[in-house]
Amino acid sequence: MDLRIKSFEQYEHDYAKSIHQPDEFWAHIADSFQWKKRWDSVVEWNFDEPKIEWFKGGKLNITENLLDRHLASKGDQVAFHWEPNHPSETSKSITYGELYTEVCKLSNGLKSLGVQKGDRVCIYMPMVIESVVAILACARIGAVHSIIFAGFSSNALADRINDAQAKVVITSDGLNRGDKSVDLKFMVDEALESCTSIEKVIVLDCIHSQSKMKDGRDIDYNSLINEQSSDCPAEEMDAEDMLFILYTSGSTGKPKGVVHTCGGYMVYTAYSFQNVFQYEQGDVFWCTADIGWITGHSYIVYGPLLSGATSIIFEGIPTYPDAGRFWQTIDKYKVNQFYTAPTAIRSLMSFDHKFVTDQDLSSLKLIGSVGEPINEEAWNWYYENIGKSNCPIIDTWWQTETGGVMLSGLGGLSPMKATYAGLPLPGICPVLLDAEGKEIHEADTEGYLCVKFPWPSILRTTYGDHERCKFTYFSNYKGYYFTGDGARRDEDGLYRIIGRVDDVINVSGHRFGTAEIEDAINKDQYAIESAVVGYPHPIKGQGIYAYVVVNAEHTSDLDITNSIANSVSQHIGRIAKPDKIQVVKGLPKTRSGKIMRRILRKIAEGELSNFGDTSTLLDPTLIDEIIKGVK
Ligand code: PRX
Repeated sequence: MDLRIKSFEQYEHDYAKSIHQPDEFWAHIADSFQWKKRWDSVVEWNFDEPKIEWFKGGKLNITENLLDRHLASKGDQVAFHWEPNHPSETSKSITYGELYTEVCKLSNGLKSLGVQKGDRVCIYMPMVIESVVAILACARIGAVHSIIFAGFSSNALADRINDAQAKVVITSDGLNRGDKSVDLKFMVDEALESCTSIEKVIVLDCIHSQSKMKDGRDIDYNSLINEQSSDCPAEEMDAEDMLFILYTSGSTGKPKGVVHTCGGYMVYTAYSFQNVFQYEQGDVFWCTADIGWITGHSYIVYGPLLSGATSIIFEGIPTYPDAGRFWQTIDKYKVNQFYTAPTAIRSLMSFDHKFVTDQDLSSLKLIGSVGEPINEEAWNWYYENIGKSNCPIIDTWWQTETGGVMLSGLGGLSPMKATYAGLPLPGICPVLLDAEGKEIHEADTEGYLCVKFPWPSILRTTYGDHERCKFTYFSNYKGYYFTGDGARRDEDGLYRIIGRVDDVINVSGHRFGTAEIEDAINKDQYAIESAVVGYPHPIKGQGIYAYVVVNAEHTSDLDITNSIANSVSQHIGRIAKPDKIQVVKGLPKTRSGKIMRRILRKIAEGELSNFGDTSTLLDPTLIDEIIKGVK
C-alpha cells in the first residue's frame, strides 16, 4: 500500500533495479494491488508494431482497488472535498463509503440503459463530484470512458463522440466558471445533430437551468440512480482491456484518441502519485487541473483514490471572486500538497501581493507544477511566496500519452533546480537523440527527448487507428518512443524541457495542433488559407499567432478577425482562439508549396530580420508585406 521511496539512496537503488530487473521491480509494486487473477508475464513489448502488454493475463477491476479495498479501513474517510465556484455556496465532502455507493448506483443505472463492457461512454461534465462518480461507474462495469473537457465546443464534442462511436453521454444542464455559465446541455444537443451512435444522454442538474429534455433519449441523472441498488459487482477486466480514451492534439488536424489500459495505468498512477508528491496517509492533496485533461484523470481521480488519499475538487477558477481563491482554499482545507500549472502562477503573480500574505499557507509541504516549462521568475515567486522557501517545488514533466509523471523531483528527496523537471522516476529510461537518431551521452547537451523502454502506463494505441500511433510516436526514431519534446540534460542528469519540436502549441498547458487551428480558421467564410504558429506569451506560455489569407475586399480587418476568432471558438472552443490574427496577402512558401513556418515563427516572436536562407522561397516579397503588416 505504501509505495513511497523514502530517501535519495533508495531512489538510486530502486532506479537501478527498475532498469536492470524491470520484471521483479514492477511485480513487487503490482503485488500490492488486488488482482482477481495474478498476471502471467510482467511486460512483453516491441516498439516496432508497437505492441506493449503489461501484466498480461492478469484480471482485475480498478474500482475494486480504489474503492472496495479501502472500505474496511477508510469507509468514513473523506475521499473528496468539493469546493464550489463561489465561496458562499455550500461546499461538500464525500467519504470512500459514500463514493462506493454512488458509483455502484450509477453503474447499475448505466447497465439498465444497456451499457456493456467495452461500450464507449462520453463524459462532458463540470468539476463536480458526480464527474468522478461517472468515471468510476464506467470503469466498474468495464465501459470505456472518454472525457471531453467542458471547454470544447459542440463541434469538437461531436468529432470525439463520432470517433469513439460512443453510446451514451453523461453531461449536466450547465456549469459555472467564475462569473460565467455555460449551457453544456445545449452544446450536447447541438453536437448530437451530427452523431448517430448516441442512444442515451444522462443529464445532471447542476445549475437548475431546466434544460429541455428530449423524450426517449434524455434521462435525469438523479432519477436514473434513485431506484438503483447500492451494490454492483465489479466487471472482471483483463489487465490490457481498455480503461479510457482521451483525445489529444497532434500535428495533424484530427485529435487522436490516446488509449490507456487497466492494469499498467493503475500501477503507475498510484506509484507515481505517492512518490512524486510524497503523499502520506492523512495528507490533503489538491490538483487544480480539470478532470477533462490527463492531469485530472491521473492525479485527481485514479492516483489519489488508488492511494486512499483525501483530495480537493475545485469547481471554480483562480481569480474568482478574487485572486486569493487558491490561497484561501489551501487554508480552508489545510492542503499539504498543491499541484497547479505555470500559467496560473504567472497570472496570480501579477495581482496585489495582499492576496497571498492574507493567508497562512503553513499547511503546505510541497508545491507542484505541470503542463509547460516553468520560467525562472514564476519558479522563484512560487517558491518564495507560496512555499515560503520551505517547500520543494516539484516540476513534473509528462504527457497524455505517458499516463503518469515521467521526470520530476521526488517530494524533495532528489535534487531540485529552477526550471528543471529533474530526474526520471524509477522505470523510466529517457534518452536524448541527435538529428540522426543517435543517443547523446554527453552532459549539458540538448536533443530530442525519447524513451527507450516501456513503462506501465505508456499509451497502447490511438483509438481506431493503430498506424497513426506507430507513425506519430514510434517511427521517427526506430526502437524509441518519441515524445515530441526537446530537452537539455545537465551534468547531474537532470532534464529541462525546452518545448515541442513538432507542430504543437502549448497554450496555458493545453495542447493544440497548428493544423487543427488552421482547419478551424479555414472554415470561416473569409479565410482562404492560414498558417498558425506559437509565440512567447507572458501568461499563457505560448500564444497563438494566425496569419490568414482572406477573400473579403470590402470587409474591415476587425470584422474579418472577429469572424475568424468565432470560427475557432465554434469548431474547437474558446480556449483555442488565436491571440493575434494578421491578415496577409499570401503565405511564404517554398517552390514545392511548403509553408516556411520558421520565418513566420520568427516574425511572431518579434524578430523582423535575419531570416537565414530564403532562396527557396517562391515569392520573397511576401515577407516584406508581412513585416509591414506587423509594423
Ligand atoms: O511539451 C510538454 C508539455 O506538455 C506536453 C504534454 O501535454 P499534455 O499531453 O496535454 O499533458 C499535459 C500535462 C501532463 C509535453 O509534451 N509539458 C508537460 N509538462 C511539462 C511540459 N513542459 C515542460 N515542463 C513540464 N513540467
